[in-house]
Amino acid sequence: MPYSSMQELKEACAGCRRCGLCEERTKVVFGVGDEQSQLMFIGEGPGENEDIQGEPFVGRAGKLLDKLLITIGLDRSKVYIANMVKCRPPHNRDPLPEEQEACIGYLREQVRLIQPQLIVCLGRIAAQRIISPDFKVTRQHGQWIERKGMNLMGTFHPAAVLRNQSQMPAALSDFISIQEMLLTLPAPTGKPTES
Ligand code: URA
Repeated sequence: MPYSSMQELKEACAGCRRCGLCEERTKVVFGVGDEQSQLMFIGEGPGENEDIQGEPFVGRAGKLLDKLLITIGLDRSKVYIANMVKCRPPHNRDPLPEEQEACIGYLREQVRLIQPQLIVCLGRIAAQRIISPDFKVTRQHGQWIERKGMNLMGTFHPAAVLRNQSQMPAALSDFISIQEMLLTLPAPTGKPTES
């Protein structure tokens, strides 16, 4: 690190053995979407389906994320989606602090290469690592904070919304807020191409 292109970063990540999660992974789940997007989502870590397919948010929670994106006129090809950790924690447990620490350098590099204007943390794990260690999703979801020229927001993890449908209106309203924020951004001028 630093890497000069997303491809180089992806290749480094594919052979990663920085933490114990590498022992049981099927595939590294690097990230997916538009590497020029103004909007990046950060989830927690791959689940079973993601581990098999090598793509983030392809299971039930992912289908809900797709629906929420469609509600605001987007789809996964127009945004970038990544996770705090790139390998599946066993039995979908929360990634341990040391696993997040081992992996965060890859995420930082993804952010540096993509340069999103908006970062949306999906759920507590990402929001507490990226926004603030005491972030409470139920109280602080939908609030934008500016940091290093980027706007950050935490919202409900789609899997949590599936478990607790009463969170759906709040999740929807956070996505409307994302749409509104996107409208305030200057049109992308095209970022320098990678060497
Ligand atoms: N949950 C996550 O946080 N990330 C995924 O990729 C899938 C489910």
